[in-house]
Amino acid sequence: MIRGFGGAHESEALEGALPRDRNNPRAPKHGLYAEQINGTSFTVPRHRNRRVWTYRIRPSTCVGPWRGYAHATFNLAYLEARPEIALRGWRPPALEGDRDFLDGLATYGGAGDPANRRGFAAHQYVATRSMDRRAFVNHDGDLLLLPDTGALRIRTELGALTVKPGELALLPRAITFSVDVDGPSRGYLFEAYARAFELPERGVIGANAVTDARHFEAPDAAFEEDDEAWEIVAKQGGALHHAEREGTPFDVVAWHGDLAPYRYDLAMFVPVGAIDRDHPDPSLFTVLSAPLDQPGENTADLVVFPERWDVTEDTFRPPYFHKNAATELNGIVTGPDRDQVFARGGLFLTPPHTPHGVPDGAVARELARGEDAPKRLGVGERWMQLESTFPMHLSPWAMAAPHRDATFGEAVREIEKRFRREV
Ligand SMILES: [Fe+2]
Repeated sequence: MIRGFGGAHESEALEGALPRDRNNPRAPKHGLYAEQINGTSFTVPRHRNRRVWTYRIRPSTCVGPWRGYAHATFNLAYLEARPEIALRGWRPPALEGDRDFLDGLATYGGAGDPANRRGFAAHQYVATRSMDRRAFVNHDGDLLLLPDTGALRIRTELGALTVKPGELALLPRAITFSVDVDGPSRGYLFEAYARAFELPERGVIGANAVTDARHFEAPDAAFEEDDEAWEIVAKQGGALHHAEREGTPFDVVAWHGDLAPYRYDLAMFVPVGAIDRDHPDPSLFTVLSAPLDQPGENTADLVVFPERWDVTEDTFRPPYFHKNAATELNGIVTGPDRDQVFARGGLFLTPPHTPHGVPDGAVARELARGEDAPKRLGVGERWMQLESTFPMHLSPWAMAAPHRDATFGEAVREIEKRFRREV
């Protein structure tokens, strides 16, 4: 594995396959073809420009003709719905059926149309078998994949990543991949249609802590050789297409560049928090951000709630009541396996400015709490949150899904009036 996020990486699986003095030699060694994959437009400023040069057995042009591909649950149907305002929750979907990663993708919702390069989408997959000589490529944006059940082996054009619950995979726009499972598997998939995911600024935190570039791992080049027919499924502006390719797309023998897939272990995140009183905002736990127009208002921020100490004094320690300007979409990547929303594989939505907080029982317990002893939070489970500046539209599938908890949100409606005039 190659360590470091966003750097100029290089890797070769056969000696001499990577040209050192130019990108595009007349006759690359071993009879390979040189091919560039751009993650950004040519003219994007250098610090945000992402591209990779690949040296492969067959160029990606050995594909076609393209035909439309229909998918009942992985689609843009959310655009038909009005932006959601209610608190919504879903229990973990059942680990059943006979489907691979691509078949098993379902879209909860999103915002914007990827053809307009603005917005995001939130999906979940349930897969029971590996993708068999078929691969997927997303032309619409970066994908963040967070398994909650089952480790995945993700073959990409640049090499393979093994990703297990508690880790994430960042799969950049235009990099073809295929997912192998080791049994029933489930997880979250988030998609940002605009700028790529990058590491968030640290601001006054300084040069260390939170997300560190050195904890990201890109794969080593690893090529396969087969002349069989493969199915390539591609998403372009939200529409799926498929075509036959001659030979495996995972035939890249060497590569160099800064457009690469990554694995990141959420346990590597170094949290920073309050050491006297009050809560910092949860944005302090941001792992990756896909920026939009206004600095700080992003297409998507991935936030993790890591294991940490709460040492605050004279502070209401549960999440405070609030109306947040962003969409909050929460999931649980490691933790108990239960048939309820607050369980591994569950998902819940708080739309922008929709009031939320903790139920009355949690308020009562907090008021009755005795001393302010330090408490370890997040033990045995890991929650994550996707924040977006866009309101989210929910898909018809999400609203009709049998695992939706129709009573979700009711728990915070009845909060006891505790007002009294104190002297
Ligand atoms: Fe919130």
